[in-house]
Amino acid sequence: MFPVLKNDRLIKSLWREPVDRTPVWMMRQAGRYLPEYRATRAKAGDFMTLCQTPELACEVTMQPLARYDFDAAILFSDILTIPDAMGLELYFVEGEGPKFKHPLTTAASIHNLSSDVMNELAYVPNAVALIRHELNGKVPLIGFSGSPWTLATYMVEGQSTREFKKIKALLYEDPALLHVLLQTLADAVTHYLLAQIKAGAQVLQIFDTWGGILSDSAYREFSLRYMRLVVTGINSNLTEAERVPIILFTKGGGGWLEDIQDTGCDAIGLDWPIDIGRARARVTDGVSLQGNMDPAVLRSTPDAIEAEVKKVLASFGRHSAASGHVFNLGHGITPDIDPENVAVFVEAVKNHSPAYHS
Ligand code: CP3
Repeated sequence: MFPVLKNDRLIKSLWREPVDRTPVWMMRQAGRYLPEYRATRAKAGDFMTLCQTPELACEVTMQPLARYDFDAAILFSDILTIPDAMGLELYFVEGEGPKFKHPLTTAASIHNLSSDVMNELAYVPNAVALIRHELNGKVPLIGFSGSPWTLATYMVEGQSTREFKKIKALLYEDPALLHVLLQTLADAVTHYLLAQIKAGAQVLQIFDTWGGILSDSAYREFSLRYMRLVVTGINSNLTEAERVPIILFTKGGGGWLEDIQDTGCDAIGLDWPIDIGRARARVTDGVSLQGNMDPAVLRSTPDAIEAEVKKVLASFGRHSAASGHVFNLGHGITPDIDPENVAVFVEAVKNHSPAYHS
């Protein structure tokens, strides 16, 4: 139904098969650091219209691929589409980030949520299918979702926060109620990601942006447990031939690599405080690693960028049948980065990684 994939480095590395060099893509690769993104965003008027109009979402997904030799496209959307579809009404205030008109403030508001969200979210699989056609087999398309825990933090706080006062109060005062919310979200995320696969997504990433703010036991109980439900829920609904690699990215998750691998995911996304070579030594055969250059390096000089890319490659070492490497930043690129430096980054991975593959 779709054209055959010409560049399958990303998928092969995630399945730990041999490749000629390390594949590279970048979290937030379509975004405000690109003038062409800002132009399409202005044309759309507001961010949600950009996400909800498949032609525009497709246009911005393709923009970074026209400039750079990335080995993947990532669906242009947002993790907060699910809470929006559940009726919380997402909006953005310039300089303040995402907000909800109807955050979850009562037990009833949690009990009344439905995981049946795909009617409202049809624009997402529609965008996926359009992007797959537009890519014409150039590189694979990554679909994504937020983790149940990370979505719950925004839904309870009502907006971005540094302190997580409300969600932590709920976690410690009424854990049973938080479990109700997380179970509803796990069901919704599972439907949502299965719909993305059906529409053409070839890899999935789950963004657990706020898993790292939890204590060890709270992470296992409120974040990891629900990501495991999503991974097993997706895979149990697919035949072996339909399966796609799943990457779990917990920001600040360096303490839990063994536990993240144990969910059954295919790859672990690493942020930059952890050494990727030491991370590799801690997990057992059968998982790939993605990451993990500090995004701040992109604010420095071409020489520094190249040196840091070489450091990450050397630390990971040689690709093997036990573990593949996908090069990425340790978190998303920020709007202030010079697009020229991204070209330096991608070229450095292309030039220096073949030495780690036979
Ligand atoms: O990686 C990609 O290129 C795909 C697109 C993508 C966006 N958001 C586009 C976006 C992805 C994967 C996300 C995920 C996302 N959204 C996360 C998890 C990301 C992570 O790195 O851990 C989170 C926490 C959100 C919620 C969200 N959406 C925030 C905090 C913001 C920034 C608000 C601001 O004004 O700074 C957004 C908006 C958003 N999502 C933008 C983009 C390009 C910028 C909005 C704009 O154009 O005005």
